[in-house]
Amino acid sequence: VPVPVICVDGPTASGKGTLASEIAHRLGYHYLDSGALYRLTGLAARQAGLEPEAVNEAEIADLARALPVRFGPGRVWLAGAEVTDAIRTEAAGMDASRVSAFPSVREALLKLQHEFARLPGLVADGRDMGTQVFPFAPLKVFLTAGAAQRAERRHKQLISKGISANIASLRADLQARDARDTHRAASPLKAAQDALLLDNSQLSVDESVEQVLAWWQARQ
Ligand code: C5P
Repeated sequence: VPVPVICVDGPTASGKGTLASEIAHRLGYHYLDSGALYRLTGLAARQAGLEPEAVNEAEIADLARALPVRFGPGRVWLAGAEVTDAIRTEAAGMDASRVSAFPSVREALLKLQHEFARLPGLVADGRDMGTQVFPFAPLKVFLTAGAAQRAERRHKQLISKGISANIASLRADLQARDARDTHRAASPLKAAQDALLLDNSQLSVDESVEQVLAWWQARQ
């Protein structure tokens, strides 16, 4: 039986996580936050004393291939230690973006990502869900929002977690991250040819959810 997969790809802080996890919840599907895997790989590298640099690519890919990770509802553990908040800092996002540019790291994480595709279905969010990881997914959404909205949302998200942040530097960070993600050779951030575009700059979370559910129902 083929597992139905809905892909939600898009740039940093476009609201992919909120949208994808809500759709998964509404449909009773599993949820894959693929960015968390890159964040975990970056953290594992740091813990092993490896800078996220090209000279360390092979060693970092080895870490990614055997990532000692465990997911619970809204929580994640690395080698038995909870790292739910530790992987959410901007520094962790930047490390994730660095290690994610290494082709061997992307390759190493493929199998783990495919394991999330289980019945009754999966909603997967990231940068290359529709282009590389689940190219046969029946629904691919490419989510965008203006840089100002994204910086503002990321700011709120961090503040609500008790992490202090500055909007201007967040905006600069997310633009730097987008530039690296878009221009890298390995699986750059881009919409799949058959993706449906959704700009949520002017939409509430509910409106975005309803739009994607309507697209999904139209495909059943
Ligand atoms: O989505 P999130 O901000 O958690 O992702 C962190 C970083 O991981 C991104 O900036 C991107 O470089 C990388 N990533 C990726 N492919 C994915 C998901 C995330 O390259 N599917």
